[in-house]
Amino acid sequence: NKYLEYRNGELYLDGVSLKALAEEFGTPLYVYSASYIRDRVRAYRKAFPTALICYAVKANFNPQIIKLVKEEGAGADIVSGGELYASLQAGVDPKKIVYAGVGKTPKEIEYAISSDILMFNVESRMELEVLDQIAERMGKKVRIAIRVNPDVDPKTHPYISTGMKKSKFGVDIKQAKEEYEYARNLKNLEVVGIHCHIGSQILDVSPYIEAVEKIVELYHYLIKSGFDIRYLDIGGGLGIKYKPEQSNPEPSDLAEAISPILKDVKAKLILEPGRSIVGNSGVLITRVEFLKDKGHKHFVIVDAGMNDLIRPAIYDAYHHIVPVEKRDGRYIKTDVVGPICETGDFLALDRELPEVGRGDYLAVLSTGAYGFAMSSHYNVRPRACELLVDEGKYRVIRKREDYTYILSLNS
Ligand code: LLP
Repeated sequence: NKYLEYRNGELYLDGVSLKALAEEFGTPLYVYSASYIRDRVRAYRKAFPTALICYAVKANFNPQIIKLVKEEGAGADIVSGGELYASLQAGVDPKKIVYAGVGKTPKEIEYAISSDILMFNVESRMELEVLDQIAERMGKKVRIAIRVNPDVDPKTHPYISTGMKKSKFGVDIKQAKEEYEYARNLKNLEVVGIHCHIGSQILDVSPYIEAVEKIVELYHYLIKSGFDIRYLDIGGGLGIKYKPEQSNPEPSDLAEAISPILKDVKAKLILEPGRSIVGNSGVLITRVEFLKDKGHKHFVIVDAGMNDLIRPAIYDAYHHIVPVEKRDGRYIKTDVVGPICETGDFLALDRELPEVGRGDYLAVLSTGAYGFAMSSHYNVRPRACELLVDEGKYRVIRKREDYTYILSLNS
């Protein structure tokens, strides 16, 4: 993130001192750069000028973030009624919303039908039937794509691979033609698209080539069979840099890789990027509470826990950590751990870190995606405050919670 830099030894994001923000708003604190997010949406729009970019709201559902991407021309990829609500609140045009998910409830389906979204990405035969019944009851015709599982290995973490045969998502590509024929006979559905999503944090474009080849073959078959396929939705998943030495594909690399395969495709392309829009826009600021040296093991104990950022605990994810005030001293090998009563409550294990002291602030990088969005109240910990910084200005986009709020729904 080019908006993250040290100025006179102090870390700034998008022109704002992170130390000053930590002092004013307390920690743990999520801070996102608006400039960075805008640049990312623009990179997608430049690489895919005629495509519809549907931002995957699951990565970061803050309505101000959704609004920002919307203002850059993006739509939304949603997976729940709640995400539909958040997107509509943010002013996203329903005609730019696509809805995936294996377990849509009747209530969610009704809500999305009455909002007149662009299309449902349907994941099973039974969902086709239920959608048709609900549409009939509502006297509406519903646009759908079938989520096809191309059985491609995205070479990423197994928990975030979604396009392989054994996963719960989509219908097997071998089964797809049959499902399309079935859907064609349901009179309240209008079959308009093909959807696929192969996984997340994909660092190589070759799995996309493989997947797009497979769905383009299906596209041509369906067109020949008389289907009016107007949308080809290839999902999200482009990976980002978590380690300084890593390299990641850009939207333009993806465009270059797949455009030859798409040359005879008339349908509009849809992409659903989440992480690659917001991931590197954000940092999580945390304060060092204690240091603990057990001789064989050193710990830096901070005030952000797995309830604030669960990725290290559940995916063994690496997040780079740097001090907010630059240190020139020694490096230590340490675990950076949170205050929660679980051994899995860590932000980093065996990390080489500049020596820090009690009260120092640390920035946990690349936490704009699946950071706050996956946070919880575990241990009755109020969720963090979120700030948006933009060319030297900043504002609160989510207030820090307090105990009363957490317990306000209990009776
Ligand atoms: N479209 C669909 C249908 C998806 O399931 C996902 C992500 C996306 C788009 C957006 O993928 P992205 O561009 O963000 O990679 N919590 C995990 C990631 C889970 C991704 C789930 N699906 C993590 O923290 O790594």
